[in-house]
Amino acid sequence: MSTADNTAQNAELPSDLVQTFRDMAAHEHHARGASIEALRLVQERFGWISDAHLAQTAQVLGMTPADLDGIATYFNLLFRKPVGKNVIMLCDSVSCWLMGQEQTRDRLCKKLQIKMGETTSDGEFTLLPIVCLGHCDHAPAMLIGKELYGPVRPEDIDAIIDDVRSKNHDHA
Ligand code: FES
Repeated sequence: MSTADNTAQNAELPSDLVQTFRDMAAHEHHARGASIEALRLVQERFGWISDAHLAQTAQVLGMTPADLDGIATYFNLLFRKPVGKNVIMLCDSVSCWLMGQEQTRDRLCKKLQIKMGETTSDGEFTLLPIVCLGHCDHAPAMLIGKELYGPVRPEDIDAIIDDVRSKNHDHA
């Protein structure tokens, strides 16, 4: 991660986000009710949720950072560490195992040249396991951003990754 990115993660939350959180909290019986959406908005803006941003969000919502961190770490789709531009969530539950998840995972790791839990050196992809995606009838399944894929066979990996890469470059 570059120095500029580090600076962004340690910076004050932008005032528009702080105001949004205040408005959301005002409409909830308990500020905790706004917590997941607030964290989602932080992640949408910065790509992940740094300690500094978590602490500031907790303060606005009237919660302790520990309480809010407990909520953030419970949800697989909220990231507490920097991630790549595209996060690949590969299902790691039983139907997908039975349908060959291991082979798909190995092919993905080879194609991206990383292990599960890592990010590619160009910052394009992070590969993470996730519990059942509810796509068991299309196992093995994976999620990239908001797009659900399945069944994903090892031989499908090259085309899927190349396609995501080229879309990234189109939007760059
Ligand atoms: S077990 Fe993989 S999608 Fe349900």
